[in-house]
Amino acid sequence: MSKHILGILCSGRGSNMQSILAAIKSGQIKAEVGIVLTDKPEARALAVARENGIKSICINRKECKDQQDFEEQLVAELRNAGVTLVVLAGFMRILSPYFVGEFRHQILNIHPSLLPSFGGAHAHRDVLAYGTKVSGCTIHFVDEGMDHGPIILQDTVPVLENDTEETLAARVLEKEHILYPRAIELYVDGKLELVGERHVRIKN
Ligand code: GRF
Repeated sequence: MSKHILGILCSGRGSNMQSILAAIKSGQIKAEVGIVLTDKPEARALAVARENGIKSICINRKECKDQQDFEEQLVAELRNAGVTLVVLAGFMRILSPYFVGEFRHQILNIHPSLLPSFGGAHAHRDVLAYGTKVSGCTIHFVDEGMDHGPIILQDTVPVLENDTEETLAARVLEKEHILYPRAIELYVDGKLELVGERHVRIKN
């Protein structure tokens, strides 16, 4: 079987991307990264990709005609790089049904809460405001809904009494850096089976 080629989409810091690159280097994930794409020229992920000798391109959303134009450029770069799995790692843009249809069941996302609770851009703030005692992170397939697709893996952390958004985010991020590489490993090893619309079975 030929190696999977990952296309990683980032908007900022890129720490999840770094954990994925480390897992590829260690041999945990048997795949290569074909391209890193960002929507923001200032994304640190661009420098991280460059340092690792990975092709990286910024498609500045602000310079695109509209969302369709932006997504068509993303798709063209991903196809050009031969990408077989799209990995959203802190990509702060909602993708339209057009993009999702181009890579159906081939797009993964990480979200820093226990979905379906606390989707959206302010998960930690919302968790603290609600007062839940547990939070965590979720890796899921991307479908047309926001933070909605079939769940692959989740892990939990406690929410502590004096937590701030920053302390909670840091605790969750430690788990993210373990969980995302694990989910990608399962995908590239062919261990994920979609059962119906919502359920992901992990094969032995
Ligand atoms: C992570 O918390 C991820 O769950 C969320 O955005 C953050 C990105 O961080 N979607 P990084 O860019 O991977 O460091």
